[in-house]
Amino acid sequence: MNNNKNYRVTDYDFIADDYSETIEKQPLQTLFLRPQLMSILPKNIEGLRVLDLGCGSGWYCNQLIKLGADVVGLDLSEKMLHIAQNRLGNYNCLIRANLEYPLSFFHDCQFDVILSSCVIHYVKNWQLLFSELSRILANNGFLVFSIHHPHIESEIHDLDNYYDMVLVNDYWPTVDAKVTYYHRSLEQLIRLLGKAGFTIEQFSEPKPGKSLKISPEIYEVLAKKPMFLFVSAKKNINLLCSSLKDG
Ligand SMILES: C[S@@+](CC[C@H](N)C(=O)[O-])C[C@H]1O[C@@H](n2cnc3c(N)ncnc32)[C@H](O)[C@@H]1O
Repeated sequence: MNNNKNYRVTDYDFIADDYSETIEKQPLQTLFLRPQLMSILPKNIEGLRVLDLGCGSGWYCNQLIKLGADVVGLDLSEKMLHIAQNRLGNYNCLIRANLEYPLSFFHDCQFDVILSSCVIHYVKNWQLLFSELSRILANNGFLVFSIHHPHIESEIHDLDNYYDMVLVNDYWPTVDAKVTYYHRSLEQLIRLLGKAGFTIEQFSEPKPGKSLKISPEIYEVLAKKPMFLFVSAKKNINLLCSSLKDG
């Protein structure tokens, strides 16, 4: 554990070691977040070009490589990338970049699938992000992601107004750090995805499976409140063209 209580984490470099170690043992990750996201990926990933957006310590990169995908992992945190590289051995596919800026180093239609686990809520400029993700995805490619559930987030953090975009201040006892991320309404998420040319194919607020009962507190919460949303959205070139025409 680090001793710097009370610092605010917008940069995972501060918590990289503790965070990466903790999530490997957390039933929330191993029995819920990871399997749920993997279950909404396109069925046959072999040979597909996949971007792991905000890859962190590289668990998804590693799984995707094992499934035969051609993988690129992107993250802002140098330390998280270092941990990911250790996991991946000599598979060189990691890029350091900030999702608040254009992803100009990727060319149009470079990927067939973009996967992103619990990352998008850290990004302020969703309009730019979604339009860049749409640009770098092939037509009919999939953006598959998990994100905090906006309604439950607003309830837990007692936000003044659900509809406002606000920076949420959270505290994570497992890594003893304050963390910040952005809250937005569900309507904003769906509208901005549509504007960037995405149609939602799968949208789930899953309940936990029985295996998560080994962690009764987490099970009880998740059985009653959908803390996370899981979304699979398809790039639809016709929708993108009409959205561009409408401005
Ligand atoms: C909750 S962790 C998730 C890591 C990984 N996807 C997983 O599920 O194991 C969030 C990750 O997003 C990255 N991140 C946050 N803001 C970012 C940004 N603006 N650009 C790129 N990566 C960012 C962090 O460095 C961190 O690795």
